[in-house]
Amino acid sequence: MNNLPAHVAIIMDGNGRWAERRGLPRLAGHLAGVNRIRSVVATLLDNQVRYVTLYGFSSENWSRPEEEVQGLFQILEDRIGQEAAEMHQQNIRIKHAGRLHELPLGVGNAIGRACSLTQHNNGMVLIFAFNYGGRQELADAARKIVEQNIPPTKIDEQIFAANLYTAGIPDVDLVIRTGGELRISNFLLWQAAYAEFYFTKILWPDFTPKQVQRALSAFTKRKRRFGGL
Ligand code: IPE
Ligand code: IPE
Ligand code: MG
Repeated sequence: MNNLPAHVAIIMDGNGRWAERRGLPRLAGHLAGVNRIRSVVATLLDNQVRYVTLYGFSSENWSRPEEEVQGLFQILEDRIGQEAAEMHQQNIRIKHAGRLHELPLGVGNAIGRACSLTQHNNGMVLIFAFNYGGRQELADAARKIVEQNIPPTKIDEQIFAANLYTAGIPDVDLVIRTGGELRISNFLLWQAAYAEFYFTKILWPDFTPKQVQRALSAFTKRKRRFGGL
């Protein structure tokens, strides 16, 4: 396919409903959701997508019942080592976007280890947005800029972008949201300024490689103008 996106960002929504429809606890949906990541990443790799950002836990998801939040952290802590080892084999570099220090040590360290293990890889960059909020990211960037004593007259878009969690990573070309909601839910507010959006009702655990291909194909038919003609 021509004109494929360089950076695809995915709001992996619908795990809870996937489980509820099967009469299972919500955590079973989160497990199915984690299991879905591998085939989706493989399909994006096949399509030479260079950057992939996955939204796994938002700053606002802390408002869920403690049991769900802790259960989700546990699933991740249990699974990330194995997944990272396989991604390492595929030359994937894992990065984190969000406030790592606010997470419990177990899951925070597990994410940190996945990032260190893969830091010298030069294939796909996989950014894991976990405990991520777009507004929090902008506030954190503003704080970092002030801490560096950058004079107000020097502050421009480049300086701002360089102080985001995603510093050095190109803007998002395509945002995919599964689960049927038509909203951004505090995801990549800055980076998605000119992204194309693809919404599908398919719940995240059901989002197959064929569906990924469909989203990519829809993207190739879009005409991007970036404000021009
Ligand atoms: C997305 O699935 C994963 C997280 C937000 C952690 P949800 O848990 O939001 O699933 P639904 O939207 O309730 O179905
Ligand atoms: C967005 O999903 C966050 C993630 C997928 C990680 P939510 O389920 O939290 O979004 P809302 O609450 O429906 O907007
Ligand atoms: Mg949801």
